[in-house]
Amino acid sequence: MPLVAGVDTSTQSCKIVVRDAATGELVRSGSAKHPDGTEIHPDHWWSAFTQAADAAGGLADVAAIAVGGQQHGMVALDAEGRVIRDALLWNDTRSAGAAEALISELGDGDRAVGSQRWADAVGSVLVASLTVTKLRWLRDAEPENAARVAAVALPHDWLSWRIAGYGPAGDPSAPLGPDLNALFTDRSDASGTGYYDAQGANGAGEYRPDLLRMALGRDDVVLPRVLGPAESGGVAHPSVAGVDVDGGALIGPGAGDNAGAALGVGMTPGDVAISIGTSGVVSAVAPRRTADGSGAINGFADAAGNALMLAVTLNAARVLDAAREVLGVDVDELAALALRAPAGSDGLVLVPYLEGERTPNRPDATGTLHGIRLATSTRPHLARAYVEGMLCGLADGLDALRAQGVPVERVMLIGGAAQSPAVQEIAPQVFGLPIAVPEPGEYVADGAARQAAWVLAAAGAAGATPTTADAGAPSALAPPDWSATISATLPADPRPEIREQYAKVRDLA
Ligand code: XUL
Repeated sequence: MPLVAGVDTSTQSCKIVVRDAATGELVRSGSAKHPDGTEIHPDHWWSAFTQAADAAGGLADVAAIAVGGQQHGMVALDAEGRVIRDALLWNDTRSAGAAEALISELGDGDRAVGSQRWADAVGSVLVASLTVTKLRWLRDAEPENAARVAAVALPHDWLSWRIAGYGPAGDPSAPLGPDLNALFTDRSDASGTGYYDAQGANGAGEYRPDLLRMALGRDDVVLPRVLGPAESGGVAHPSVAGVDVDGGALIGPGAGDNAGAALGVGMTPGDVAISIGTSGVVSAVAPRRTADGSGAINGFADAAGNALMLAVTLNAARVLDAAREVLGVDVDELAALALRAPAGSDGLVLVPYLEGERTPNRPDATGTLHGIRLATSTRPHLARAYVEGMLCGLADGLDALRAQGVPVERVMLIGGAAQSPAVQEIAPQVFGLPIAVPEPGEYVADGAARQAAWVLAAAGAAGATPTTADAGAPSALAPPDWSATISATLPADPRPEIREQYAKVRDLA
């Protein structure tokens, strides 16, 4: 069977997995770091991709490739395919004022009306993360740059375009030049822009040029073509991937990272994933999105034709990093310390809005620590308060999903911090539910690889028809069956007092 590559161009790094298209078996992998910061020149993503591909032993033998990536980032291109300014990432909050202005404008001056209208139109109430708010910020803060915008892409769209051989005019690494009409994306990432309605046009999905115009002041810009879940956007340039494969490497539509992870762990309706990474994400696959005018839930699309309902907190793994910094300990020591304090940390509560917050929408909030007494001024109490506070923020997100009527049948804990023994012990207490922890893995890159195998099958290039003896092999109609294996099932251990004491102080922040 052919090989496929899945790429995760994430906030922190680029990760590539090469897998067997039939079985999903991991063949090779590689990664390379991205610089820190909330505005990054996309060239860093390209050089990290090429380094990660080298570290993965090259991509000459892959028959398909797909890219998952951090959502929402604004990649503004001029007519020559050049990046106009550093991309503003999902976690850059400078466009918070622009978000408020756009909500008010769509609501004819009424914030509640505007919030509901945005949710109805595109599935999400605007916050600074969404691309459309960054375009408004650009229009107002950098009008000369705004005037040069000829196309707007997302991080994964731009990287797919570079893989196909396109890029800035005159750049030797972009032999096909700056053809902006060759840009493509997928439903999941497009649904996070704020100017795409995944359920519009009778479910086919459609851009909303009126909303783009409202933000940028014009709509004469190229937006990437939105592909279906198993549609190919083209062929990788042979200098990048697939040179040893007949016909080259097909490029899949790609996905936003949350949809990529959902595909990577094999989520289906009824599953909820709680992901503790740079951002905290509570997500569920549902047949259709709802329109939550409160803004707690984003109604995005997934990468398989469904909706992906999700709540995002800006304060997740970094809260644990902050705790390690304060206490001068490593990951294992932090977990050991936290587990030495009792559930509820004797009333010491951290409200973890250390970088502002998105759910609830408080871009200017700071964190607060409540209940400091002599008895709680210990390192274990502090460690436990940080872990509980972070999990309480995520539990608020789970409640918001339930409030939208999303069924919660199985909860999966994913992301780097899900492996912490303290998180694994305290999460069933805070959520009050049994929790499955999949084997650690590169779920986004794995989801992208799974999509690539699906694209290959859909293109009729898989070279084999699935049989019962070959049950995991991809078919054209559904992604291959590569669901992650569950490494731990944690029984529910409800300690409602943890969330009760958190709820009492959360809104004082
Ligand atoms: C989702 C979001 C984050 C980024 C992280 O809305 O902003 O999860 O996708 O990469």
